[in-house]
Amino acid sequence: MKYFTTVNDVINVDKLVSEVLALKNDPHAFPLLGKNKTLGLIFMNPSLRTRLSTQKAAMNLGMSVMVMNIDKEGWAIETEEGAVMNGTKVEHMKDAAAVMGLYCDVIGIRCFPSLLDKKEDYSEKVLLGFMKHCGVPLISLESATLHPLQSLADLVTIKESWKEKRRPKVVLSWAPHIKPLPQAVANSFSEWMCKADVDITITHPEGYQLCEDHTKGATITHKQQEALEGADFVYVKNWSSYSEYGKILTAGDGWMLTTEKLKPTNNAKVMHCLPVRRNVELSDEVLDGKNSLVLQQAANRLYAAQTVLKKMLEGNKKQTTTLQHGEVINH
Ligand code: CP
Repeated sequence: MKYFTTVNDVINVDKLVSEVLALKNDPHAFPLLGKNKTLGLIFMNPSLRTRLSTQKAAMNLGMSVMVMNIDKEGWAIETEEGAVMNGTKVEHMKDAAAVMGLYCDVIGIRCFPSLLDKKEDYSEKVLLGFMKHCGVPLISLESATLHPLQSLADLVTIKESWKEKRRPKVVLSWAPHIKPLPQAVANSFSEWMCKADVDITITHPEGYQLCEDHTKGATITHKQQEALEGADFVYVKNWSSYSEYGKILTAGDGWMLTTEKLKPTNNAKVMHCLPVRRNVELSDEVLDGKNSLVLQQAANRLYAAQTVLKKMLEGNKKQTTTLQHGEVINH
């Protein structure tokens, strides 16, 4: 595996989930696989779970880890191809990525969208720029449009919580929020569920339809209460509008998930990627209740990241980079 940026980078989703569960059973089975290898984690935005779980995943495999909050600690990055850099931006993305690729065997990057320009955000300029120029395997730690490590952990959580033979009904339910949030978690959850052995329904207020590239195969409705009927899993998440890009269109009164709303479900398990705005997106009662899977999801972030890193290390035991003048660097 060279890239992990979308479900489309995965050849067999079921097999990957099984590999995560096997690793969860014995997380210290490969303590030397990453010996003398370095993981570089680049954050352009805040993180708790992704940062810590990916570091721990690398340490379980014997890797060294370097973390850089590039937005605060690095030079101001220019991302425009061909830019005349006579303004405030100090270093071009292509130079920064190439240099980091010399120091690291795998790179992870978190690069959120601006939510100002749909075309630019959905072009994934930063993610693709780093992929193109770093020259080593790359993991998305949440990009402008997708969050694959979260979705893999979510699917693993569903798989280990579901014991019946039939396909579970999984509902992605939009929730209110005080700030406009990216669509990345929702897009990603939808595209992973559409490839998994589940029935996926997405419910949201009018104007919040997701980019249809990520929802092929999902049932979509504006009627939350109908969507929740018979649900086995309810995944709660806010996202800002895709059609009126980056906007909050409604306060979403009545969309917060409560115990009352869960009554018509099949005793549904409740999921959220965290961080969560308590008593805005979900009630305390639901989050702290016996059907909440939020901590299990967070725990599974470690095994999801470790499995992806393991596959990258196994597939790229030796990395060589050729510099402009022909010198070859082995790392
Ligand atoms: N769910 C998630 O990605 O959490 P962080 O933003 O804290 O990494």
